[in-house]
Amino acid sequence: MKTVSTIAELRTEVHAWRSQGEKIVLVPTMGALHEGHLSLVRMAGDSGDRTVVSIFLNPAQFAPDEDFDSYPRDTDKDVEKLRPLGVDLLFMPRREEIYPQDFSTLITVPGVAEGLCGASRPHFFSGVATVVAKLLNQCRPDVAIFGEKDFQQLLVIRRLARDLDMDVEILGAPIIREPDGLAMSSRNAYLSADEREKAPLLYQTINEVANAIAVGEAIVDLLDAAGKRLTQAGFEVEYLEARDADTLAPVTTRANTPTRVFAAVMLGKTRLIDNVAVP
Ligand code: PAF
Repeated sequence: MKTVSTIAELRTEVHAWRSQGEKIVLVPTMGALHEGHLSLVRMAGDSGDRTVVSIFLNPAQFAPDEDFDSYPRDTDKDVEKLRPLGVDLLFMPRREEIYPQDFSTLITVPGVAEGLCGASRPHFFSGVATVVAKLLNQCRPDVAIFGEKDFQQLLVIRRLARDLDMDVEILGAPIIREPDGLAMSSRNAYLSADEREKAPLLYQTINEVANAIAVGEAIVDLLDAAGKRLTQAGFEVEYLEARDADTLAPVTTRANTPTRVFAAVMLGKTRLIDNVAVP
């Protein structure tokens, strides 16, 4: 696995493969890799000829009061995890490579980036959209893969790629969960032992809501009861909503279009998000 840190080196490597007609797949990450990320990398191996993984902890998607400084960083471990997976190229740019001093462009994606995580983290999706647009331009992959755990992010990136006529297929990969149901996340490392024990209740709750929606129970009542249950268990609920899986329009009565239940909570100082499809 070759590692490069400049855009010029990345382009040279990828250009050589592209000129041989090889299909290039990019998996953008912020490091602190877990099984969820590794599943994206394995999917990349099955989706093309060459796999490029990027590790860049993107400051633009963190607000000043968020966890940029404490976000887990362990590049050596990340490299060890990637090594057996057949990754062709690891791109690890430094901050100045991505954001030179006079950098000033910001991409916003109104609509899908509003509401849910966009309501409490207004900076977040423009930070993600900007860095992902840059990574897609730098690498020019045929396919890029993102996890469904950040489902709203996946939709924002799909819209961005479509609106900016980027010649790339955006693939979503299923959420990978711990045996007790907790969605894998780099931020799970922040949880205390007590919080870790409690955390799977988030998934259990949204899963029950999704199953109850599927059999026709009243969505508003279900969400209300589920929110109370989580609050009583010590979660601070930021949002708990049913939304259309393509447009993210709120769903308050059972529709025949694909629907997902989305939640974000604080458990102590840790923010957890999760979502499930209504079966
Ligand atoms: O999902 C992530 O890890 C990040 O938001 C991404 C897509 C790599 C952009 O920094």
